[in-house]
Amino acid sequence: MTRIGIIVGSISSTSLNRKLAKALMRLAPEGVELTEIPIAELPFYSPDHDADYPQVARDFKGAIAEADGVIIVTPEYSRSIPGVLKNALDWSARPYGQSSFNAKPTAVIGASGGAISTAAAQQHLRAILLHYNAIVLGQPEGYIQATPGLLTEDGEVTNESTAAFLTSFVEAFDALIGRVKAGRAA
Ligand code: FNR
Repeated sequence: MTRIGIIVGSISSTSLNRKLAKALMRLAPEGVELTEIPIAELPFYSPDHDADYPQVARDFKGAIAEADGVIIVTPEYSRSIPGVLKNALDWSARPYGQSSFNAKPTAVIGASGGAISTAAAQQHLRAILLHYNAIVLGQPEGYIQATPGLLTEDGEVTNESTAAFLTSFVEAFDALIGRVKAGRAA
């Protein structure tokens, strides 16, 4: 069993990207378990916390540590990632020397209504993850253009080829995790 954590970079009550995360959970192949790693309750990060992280931040880092890999489902805000996601990543990076994403298999995907989807946000996110020394899935890239009705509230995907793509995305990430576990990263 591969245990994958999912971080949704939106706290919107109507989040499109949460629907995408639910779709990934639904469509994951057998032997892959996807569980959300919540970020909504994290306070703003400050180095003042480094000496004694609050429980919610310990839980957040603990969940990343326990996962075989992490998928980050990001919206795009102003051609970058939302502040709530950056805040969570800042918590993950500290205390100094204890970065949660060091050598962690990580995949990036996201949805927006725009023609280029979340491509710009994902490039920023990839740069941050590479700085963390995460092992980032290169391909496939997941730029989901969420046309009206594509994703239902429960994460059903109404277009067959998009559903097949999302399954193949998780399969590719599972394969990367397998290579990392076997000592053959990338
Ligand atoms: C957006 N949106 C947006 N979309 C996009 O494709 N590129 C962008 O740069 C932006 N910028 C942006 C900034 C801000 C502040 C907001 C609120 C929205 C639209 C965005 O894709 C849309 O609101 C999505 O529904 C956001 O994802 P969630 O929160 O629904 O998952």
